[in-house]
Amino acid sequence: MISPRSSLLPFALPDTDEAEIQAIAEAVYAGWLTTGPKTGQFEADFAARVGAKHAIAVNSCTAAMHLALEAIGLQAGDEVITTPYTFAATAEVVHYFHAKPVLVDVRPEDFNLDPTRLEAAITPRTKAIIPVHIAGLPVELDEIHTVAHKHHLWVIEDAAHAFLTLYKGRSIGSLSDFTCFSFYATKAITTGEGGMVCTDNDAWADRCRIMALHGISHDAWKRYTAEGRWYYEIIAPGYKYNLTDVAAAMGLAQLRKAQTMWQRRLAIAQRYNRAFEDLPELQIPYDRLDCQHAWHLYMLRLNLDRLSINRMQFVAELRQRNISTSVHFIPLHLHPYYRETYGYRPEDFPIAYREYLREVSLPIYSKMSDADVQAVIDSVAEVARQYRC
Ligand SMILES: Cc1ncc(COP(=O)(O)O)c(C=O)c1O
Repeated sequence: MISPRSSLLPFALPDTDEAEIQAIAEAVYAGWLTTGPKTGQFEADFAARVGAKHAIAVNSCTAAMHLALEAIGLQAGDEVITTPYTFAATAEVVHYFHAKPVLVDVRPEDFNLDPTRLEAAITPRTKAIIPVHIAGLPVELDEIHTVAHKHHLWVIEDAAHAFLTLYKGRSIGSLSDFTCFSFYATKAITTGEGGMVCTDNDAWADRCRIMALHGISHDAWKRYTAEGRWYYEIIAPGYKYNLTDVAAAMGLAQLRKAQTMWQRRLAIAQRYNRAFEDLPELQIPYDRLDCQHAWHLYMLRLNLDRLSINRMQFVAELRQRNISTSVHFIPLHLHPYYRETYGYRPEDFPIAYREYLREVSLPIYSKMSDADVQAVIDSVAEVARQYRC
C-alpha cells in the first residue's frame, strides 16, 4: 500500500487569502455594510464578465432561481421541467409556488438533462425549463432553446456550477432568459453564501431587484444617501434576498483571481484524466472540445463490473488513505419527499439512478498542491488495482 497522507485532504476548500481580507476590511471601514456601492460594483463586473445586461446580486443561487420564477409569473399548478440529477434547490424553488417540478432523465455521458426527452414531458401547464450544468459542463443549450421556443417556454439556467463555462464559445450567463449562479463556499468564486441572477430583460431585472428586497421600489442605499429620498412603496410582498457589501467585497476579490483559479482546476482535471484514462476500472468525466468546462467538480465513475467493491466501499477505502470524496448527486427522486409526494421508484429515471450508483467526486480546487493531487491519484489508482476483478 502507498504510504497514506498523514492528514485528511479536504474535499473542497475556498481559495481565500490576504486579498479577500483586505477587500472585506475596506468594506467594513467604509461603514456601509449592507447592500451598497460594493454590491453595485460586483454586479457590474460580474455582468461584464459573463456578458449579461443585468446581474442582480442575492444571497444564494436558490434565491436567484426563486426570483427568476417569480419574475416569469409562475403560478400554483404550473409545471417546470428539470432533472433529477441535481441539488435540492433546483426543484425546491418550484414547490415554493405550489407548482410541480417535472423530472426528465439525464444523458449517460455527462449527467446533464437529455434534450431528446424534453418534448415528451411538456404539457399545457409547462411554463419553464431549468437545465443544470452539472459539474460545470454545459447542457445542450441549442437543443433546449429550440424546444423552448417551439413551446413558448422560458429557460432559467441553474448555473451554480458554471461560472466561466463556455457553451460553443459563448459565456454561460448571457444565453437564456435567466442564468442563476452560486457563490457558496465551495463554488468557483465565493462570498461565503451568495448568488447572482442574470438576465437581458429590463423588466425582469427590475422585478428581481425589487422582489429581492421586500418588494420595495427603492433600496436603502438610494433612500438614505444625499441624492436619495425617504419615500418608498411596497409593490408586492417580496423577500429578503439582498447581498451585503461585505460579501460583495469578497466577491470582487474572488472575481479578480477567477481565471487563475479556473486554470488550476483545469490542470488538476487534466492530471487526473491522464492518470485514470487507462485504468479499465474507472471512467473519466466526459468533456467536449467545443465547450469550456468550469471543472467545479471532477465526477469520476467506477466501472463496477470490473471491481469487487461497490461505490460505498471505494469511498471508504479512499477515506482510509486520508482522501475525502463526495457523491454528486443523490438524484431527487430517491429522496423521501419526492418518493412520498410523487410515488417515484428508482427505475423511473434509470440513467440518473444507474450513474449515481457509480459516481465518486474527487477533490478539485485551486488550493490543492501538486502533492495533494498526486496523493489522490496514487490512492484512487491503488484502490482500483487492489479491487479489480
Ligand atoms: C446544482 C445546484 N443548484 C443550486 C445550488 C444552490 O446554491 P446556493 O447554495 O447558492 O443556493 C447548488 C448548491 O450547491 C447546486 O449544486
